[in-house]
Amino acid sequence: MSGPVHELAEKLNGVLQADGSPLFRFLSAKGQRAFFPSTGILGQGAQAKGAAINATIGTAFEEDGTPLSLECAERLTALPSTAFLYSPSSGVAALRDVWREMLFEKNPSLKGKRFSHPVVTHALTHGLFVAGHLFVGEDDALILPNLYWDNYELLFCEGYGARLDLFPMFTAAGAFNAAAMEAKLMESGERKILLLNFPNNPTGYTATESDAVAITASIRRAAEAGKKVVVILDDAYFGLVYEEGVCRESLFVHLADLHPNVLAVKLDGATKEDYVWGVRVGFITFASQGATDEQYRALEAKAAGTVRGTVSNCSNIGQQMMLKIYRDPDYVTQKREKYAILNRRYQTIKRELAAHPEYAESFTRMPSNSGYFMCVKPIGVDAESVRRCLIERFSTGVIVLNGLIRLAFSSVPNAALPTLFANIDAAVRYLKERA
Ligand SMILES: Cc1ncc(COP(=O)(O)O)c(C=O)c1O
Repeated sequence: MSGPVHELAEKLNGVLQADGSPLFRFLSAKGQRAFFPSTGILGQGAQAKGAAINATIGTAFEEDGTPLSLECAERLTALPSTAFLYSPSSGVAALRDVWREMLFEKNPSLKGKRFSHPVVTHALTHGLFVAGHLFVGEDDALILPNLYWDNYELLFCEGYGARLDLFPMFTAAGAFNAAAMEAKLMESGERKILLLNFPNNPTGYTATESDAVAITASIRRAAEAGKKVVVILDDAYFGLVYEEGVCRESLFVHLADLHPNVLAVKLDGATKEDYVWGVRVGFITFASQGATDEQYRALEAKAAGTVRGTVSNCSNIGQQMMLKIYRDPDYVTQKREKYAILNRRYQTIKRELAAHPEYAESFTRMPSNSGYFMCVKPIGVDAESVRRCLIERFSTGVIVLNGLIRLAFSSVPNAALPTLFANIDAAVRYLKERA
């Protein structure tokens, strides 16, 4: 990074500092330099919108003014040819509106709360990357539970030079360890970056309602002590909760207006929620108590500028597809049906483990209540040996992460689940006998 900060970035920074607002102080060095190039090609193109002759943007149009696209491509997508044009860097406006509306529907406690418009990202990984750009700098510590999606290392450590500052995810009683989280937030230094992912990958754990109270109170105490806390919420698996007493809403509802020293950054999207992994549509949304509309626009501009500088803009086809899907009268029913499939598998697993108390000699079930995954901890043998034994002797594939065996029941038919657990038990017993 060199050279003076661009005047458009200076302008956005001024907005974020207005009236003594702490928002500017959440930004990383890269985040302070981020801006949306509103006076460049995109801005000039926007000004020419509706002009009789528009020779601005590098797309192509037929002689009749419709997008110039291959008919075979149109047949394939069943979308209007406008879907082949560029999307704005901040995303398709109608999709952003629909997603914002859906955030209110899925999180009723957001009613009356203020937050930014979602900015479209190339699904959640890119949303996390955008959040990293804006808030995570060289040598920053990223506070997160010790059971986490391994891609955070590539994203934040390799990508931005940060280090992961882990706390134990669970208490001995199996609750979320908010006290350990708070201790990290209270360590020296003013700027804190916290990353929370519910439903969690790999554990499939979502904060219970009492966890959420404890987490919110801890973050509030840190903010009251003067810490500037950016809370990055990775809500990739939002909505897939299978137990009572577990948060059905995002923690965003509690953090959106918690304290001016707290900036909530919500990453979510279609990938896992809507079972469209390859479509690549996600969102980044900001909320902080007391932030003005103009300050939200400034944060959106910084996010859109980061999109512009990374992937330029996200797939319009993906966004148009999702827009059509969200407006489809069958969407809600079909989504409920797919949830029921995953919920049934979760309930099968619970029943299966209850029916086989002897499995408790081979592995411990980690706390889980949601999502695509659950974890077991093998007893007396290491997880990697179990994984290899499962492949070689039982034709069963699992993932080992942080010494645990992660089971993606999202990918296993209901009827195969009893065999999956019987195989894990048999593999552990086999290894123990030969130890
Ligand atoms: C916790 C978590 N966050 C984000 C992602 C990335 O999602 P996407 O495919 O939308 O980039 C994943 C994917 O596995 C994940 O498990």
